[in-house]
Amino acid sequence: MRGQSGISLRTVAGILALVLISAASYAQTAQRAKPAVAHGASAASERDWWKNAVIYEIYPRSFQDSNGDGIGDLNGITERLDYLQQLGVDAIWLTPINPSPQVDFGYDVSDYRAIDPQYGTLADFDRLVAEANKRHIRVILDMVMNHTSDKHAWFVASRSSLTNPYRDWYVWRDGKGETATDKGAPPNNWQSTFGHAAWQWDETTRQYYYHNFYVQQPDLNWNNPKVHEAFKDILRFWLDRGVAGFRFDAISTLYEDPSLADEAEIKDKDGKPILNVFGDVRLDSSKTRNLPGVHTVMQEMRAAMDTFNPNAWPGTRVLIGETFARNAAELNQLYGSADKPEFHLPMDLQVLPAEMQTGSARLDVAQLRKNLTDAETGIGSNIPLLVFDNHDRPRLDMRYGDGVHDVDIQKALATVLLMSRGAALFYYGDEIGMKTTPPTRKEDVKDPVGLVGWPENKGRDGERTPMQWEGTAKAGFTSGDPWLPVPPSVSTINVKTEASDPNSLLGWYKALIQLKKTNPVLAQGANVMLDTDNTKVLSWMRQNKGAPVVLVSVNVTAEPQTVSLKLPCAGVCEWKLKTLAKSPGAVAPLTPERIELGPYGVFIGEAE
Ligand code: NOJ
Repeated sequence: MRGQSGISLRTVAGILALVLISAASYAQTAQRAKPAVAHGASAASERDWWKNAVIYEIYPRSFQDSNGDGIGDLNGITERLDYLQQLGVDAIWLTPINPSPQVDFGYDVSDYRAIDPQYGTLADFDRLVAEANKRHIRVILDMVMNHTSDKHAWFVASRSSLTNPYRDWYVWRDGKGETATDKGAPPNNWQSTFGHAAWQWDETTRQYYYHNFYVQQPDLNWNNPKVHEAFKDILRFWLDRGVAGFRFDAISTLYEDPSLADEAEIKDKDGKPILNVFGDVRLDSSKTRNLPGVHTVMQEMRAAMDTFNPNAWPGTRVLIGETFARNAAELNQLYGSADKPEFHLPMDLQVLPAEMQTGSARLDVAQLRKNLTDAETGIGSNIPLLVFDNHDRPRLDMRYGDGVHDVDIQKALATVLLMSRGAALFYYGDEIGMKTTPPTRKEDVKDPVGLVGWPENKGRDGERTPMQWEGTAKAGFTSGDPWLPVPPSVSTINVKTEASDPNSLLGWYKALIQLKKTNPVLAQGANVMLDTDNTKVLSWMRQNKGAPVVLVSVNVTAEPQTVSLKLPCAGVCEWKLKTLAKSPGAVAPLTPERIELGPYGVFIGEAE
């Protein structure tokens, strides 16, 4: 046992002041009236809005700057709400906007109940929510629960002494072979997701703390019930302000195995350890990922959210998970059960995984079909949430583009995303085909992942460049110096140009969203794969009792293809096809038995 040092009076006073200030601001917020918005939609569809939702991810730093400092902000988002309404989205998810030293651009939170001054104020936030609600758009926040910033008052207190009441809010351990004069080795071989050891020595109290992400992101100790209570309060704080739900960040890493045993090294077929992009030996993550406690926490958070009345605007408050399931069975568990529900919408990041980018056959029809079938059949009656793109992955152009048909490929992928059953989430700029534009020099890198991983891993700056509103040097994003450079592609890829072109990618997204929202079969019908031996064209139908089926065919090759779809029918059936949407220039087919598709061409039609 270590010597216990006394707790400083200043620390106690500081914490007390913090608690009082937070309690006072919470009380004020709770009194503020929630926006009462009448939208004319049925009560049930308002409550169940999330089941067919189109959710738009905004990286606030990069969306719209309103004050010329080169960094996007909340008032900027408010200015662009009309655009989002015209696009047809149901909800916007904002990546973290809380005060933060911005080491991980907001994913290092130093105060969960305020807005970072770079992004605005709580009053700006309230205005954003009210203006979004007027346009029938809900606001979803990111909730970072695995870790805080090392500048958060909890951690500042925790690291101040071994006996501080907040000591047990984080994961502190002695070093291996530590003595009074020697810090010893880290407690085990666990690694940070962002490279190298996950343990950081802290001289003040002479222990190591655990950080699954950066050194500046110490992991919270979820074995401490006070951490649970603190987060339930934080959820209520924002729900009282009118938010429609949360995207829970990094949920799989909440718990660590108490044995602190080393993780096993992953070896190649010759028994040699495999290295990751940071040059570290790859570990099997068995002691730090998806430990059972995660389910209990989700049940608890869901129960806290379910106390909010789903029949009042903004409807059901949704719990979305940043979840990395390896297969549909694992994903299914994240929904919980009827009596112990967990996520409404754990993200399915597997249908179009980041790593499906081998050789020239980047889009493999059989694999896509299998992934979609698993997503449809492997989760019972739960609602899928397909996510193809986000602020952590290279954009679609880099993963799936061929440099020639990029727009058509992105139209094809948008079709898969938006014409499948369930909720769909896409990332700002996907709708115009923004290109991944990584930095070319290490000195320009902003994301520390790129600094640690350079040159193999250039980090995530490439997918976080300013939104391209118009074809000018600053893209209409800012009047100042943008925090990341505007990509050269801005001259052709921008909202203004695409809005006036009926054949643009933007036009295609709008048309698909409109279809998803207005066609009841697309809103609710099951996905059934068709023509399942075809290795070039992905076809499926959406089916709901008593309504005409909707057929979707997507050519996943650069050559023209013709498909002949046999629809299930009793006796002799003659199908008539009505086109709902098709690639520009394509001939409208008259029958499912002959659908002609150009390179990466798409057909969507109703069969009766
Ligand atoms: C996942 C977030 O999407 C990513 O951007 C962040 O760096 C990590 N979680 C750590 O919070």
